Amino acid sequence: MIDKIRIKEYFWKSIRNILEDLSMNETLSVIKNRRSIRDFKPEQIKGSELEVILEAGMYAPSSGGHQPWHFTVIQNKKVIGEISEAIKAVYREMPIPFLQKIGKERPHLFYNALPVIVISGDQNSLSPDIDCALAGENMLIAAESLNIGSVWVSGFPQLANTEAGKQIIKALNIPEGYKPIYSIALGYKAAENPKAGARRENLVNYIT
Ligand SMILES: Cc1cc2nc3c(=O)[nH]c(=O)nc-3n(C[C@H](O)[C@H](O)[C@H](O)COP(=O)(O)O)c2cc1C
Repeated sequence: MIDKIRIKEYFWKSIRNILEDLSMNETLSVIKNRRSIRDFKPEQIKGSELEVILEAGMYAPSSGGHQPWHFTVIQNKKVIGEISEAIKAVYREMPIPFLQKIGKERPHLFYNALPVIVISGDQNSLSPDIDCALAGENMLIAAESLNIGSVWVSGFPQLANTEAGKQIIKALNIPEGYKPIYSIALGYKAAENPKAGARRENLVNYIT
């Protein structure tokens, strides 16, 4: 009788362990723990870490398997600062209060991070914006898996609409036919990951 109870307890404990493992393996825990980091240490991440993050981007899915991305790694603080100021100037002129406020009040759009990776998409491919976003997300997840801070930074398409912005983008030597879409700022975290905001509810329906 006792043995039967023990076997039953052992059985349920094993099931619970399996379910816990399924709901929180390392990949899932990295995905859940990743947060946008906006406070960085001054030193740059190691070259080997940067390579791993870039490679993760290259393994993203892409429409037709075309891999229509190009990554520009900016490791020059002055250039990043100039881009930040140029995007802020564009934001200040835009009829969107959210962006106007950022243009006026945010000291540095890239939070003094070094490096910044600009992701550009091949405009002749099927869905460059989506493919590049997937590459970007892969890089954010890869960075978190190495405990490296990252944040997605917008503004390049808006920058490309101005003459000054066009000159700045030209200096980035992005291949012909590619347009910068997003960027990712990377660096060692100067603070703990913030807590995730509450997740919205009732977002799923099932058809069975
Ligand atoms: C398309 C897109 C654009 C974003 N642009 C910026 C940005 O310009 N600057 C910034 O600090 N964060 C930016 N973010 C980060 C979001 O603010 C952040 O992901 C969101 O607040 C949720 O927080 P979490 O990343 O910590 O989960 C952007 C995120 C996405 C997906």
